[in-house]
Amino acid sequence: MSLTRVQFFSISLDGFGTGEGQTLEAPFGHAGERLHEWMFATRQWRGPDQPGGSGGVDDLFVKQHDQGIGAEIMGANKFGPRGWHEDPEWKGWWGPNPPFHTPTFILTHHAHPPIEMEGGTTFHFIDATPAEALKTAREAAGGKDVRIGGGATVIRDFLAAGLIDHMHIVVVPILLGRGVRLWDGLEGLENDYQIEAISSPSGVTHVTFTRTGA
Ligand SMILES: NC(=O)c1ccc[n+]([C@@H]2O[C@H](COP(=O)([O-])OP(=O)(O)OC[C@H]3O[C@@H](n4cnc5c(N)ncnc54)[C@H](OP(=O)(O)O)[C@@H]3O)[C@@H](O)[C@H]2O)c1
Repeated sequence: MSLTRVQFFSISLDGFGTGEGQTLEAPFGHAGERLHEWMFATRQWRGPDQPGGSGGVDDLFVKQHDQGIGAEIMGANKFGPRGWHEDPEWKGWWGPNPPFHTPTFILTHHAHPPIEMEGGTTFHFIDATPAEALKTAREAAGGKDVRIGGGATVIRDFLAAGLIDHMHIVVVPILLGRGVRLWDGLEGLENDYQIEAISSPSGVTHVTFTRTGA
């Protein structure tokens, strides 16, 4: 059965999935790169061109990013800084070959033609409810799982709608104080999931949420 999954979405100890003040130069606002330093240090992220890196639990989780995924859904602010839709040249932050390699659906209120990228990624722009978007992405995923890629607003909306089957959150030991929070309005979420946690020597905590019965 096709599952709806969140893969290593990183939050601060105080629950922020991104900082305040996103710009072209600072995709995570005042958080800078602090939410993902654990990931940049892994072997999987560094790849064969940069030997070394950590090969432990953090690396194992990063390796799962693509496994079994047939489509991604993301929010407009993950795709680009505010106003990106007014720039006809904007094709996301990731260069000509983005790391998705599947149909990728961007939730936005701004209509935009699809963009075909190298490596199997095609960006589709849709204005839809989370349930409608998931139906569309699932059809495109060819029986594989659908990744909800963030940002915090979109993951929160999918959680509120009861649409996430499996979620992996990385709690990073920093306090951001401001930004976009993941957990607001989700009181009692833990009742719907079996939750496990594992601490990494890097200092982050991996928390997995598996929907009861999924
Ligand atoms: N911590 C991590 O691991 C991680 C991972 C991925 C991304 N991020 C960061 O998260 C930040 C973005 O998160 P965010 O919470 O600000 O925004 P977001 O979730 O990426 O996008 C929210 C925006 O998407 C559009 N949207 C959402 N739902 C929609 C719907 N149902 N229909 C139509 N449009 C819809 C709206 O934009 P419009 O009205 O403008 O169209 C909305 O303001 C970025 O800084 C990104 O770098 C963090």
